[in-house]
Amino acid sequence: MKLLKEKIMSEGLVLNDAILKVDSFLNHQIDPELMMEIGKEFHRRFSGCGITKIFTIESSGIACALPAGLCMHVPVVFARKQKSALMSSEAYSTKVYSFTKKVTSDVTVLKKFLPAGEKILIIDDFLANGEAALGLANIVQQAGSEVVGIGIVIEKSFQPGRQRLIDAGFRVESLARVQAFKDGKVIFAE
Ligand code: G4P
Repeated sequence: MKLLKEKIMSEGLVLNDAILKVDSFLNHQIDPELMMEIGKEFHRRFSGCGITKIFTIESSGIACALPAGLCMHVPVVFARKQKSALMSSEAYSTKVYSFTKKVTSDVTVLKKFLPAGEKILIIDDFLANGEAALGLANIVQQAGSEVVGIGIVIEKSFQPGRQRLIDAGFRVESLARVQAFKDGKVIFAE
């Protein structure tokens, strides 16, 4: 997606050989117009798939998933990263380990918002090792629904996430694929 790549090139900050900081438009301050274009692009890529619901994870996933839900006219459900006392038996949950942040989260969603028989599009902001997406897919499968695809805003193609998702049988659509960070610059995969 050209607009997204241009934004990454102009505002993205390569922190080290593995981390791209995009807090001026995605992870802290949010560019609503860019998010709207991201939503349209997910809609275009998954049109005709019969998606009935979008599933994402707090916090940055929400900003990317909401405009897609608006374009597709489907609800957006986000998983929480901490168990709430209210959730207990009424919720699906799975553990997700973040290699980037070195923390394990209990990813949780209320069962009533994820009934069986839905056709789900999973959306997230970054794909690194694939732990978050695999965790969300695990929850969808616990619920008896189908993962139609996984939509990612920024994929770091040099990390194993994409291959892990494909090996697990999922369709992955990433709007920007980063092949490497070289001399402080972002090299795109395509
Ligand atoms: P994985 O799900 O693909 O395995 O990714 P990983 O655990 O390694 O990453 C966990 C968190 O780190 C996620 O944020 C993810 O978006 C973020 N992350 C991974 N790589 C990068 C990167 O290069 N740049 C930035 N800016 N973030 C990265 P999170 O904990 O879910 O945070 P948030 O959504 O609450 O902001």
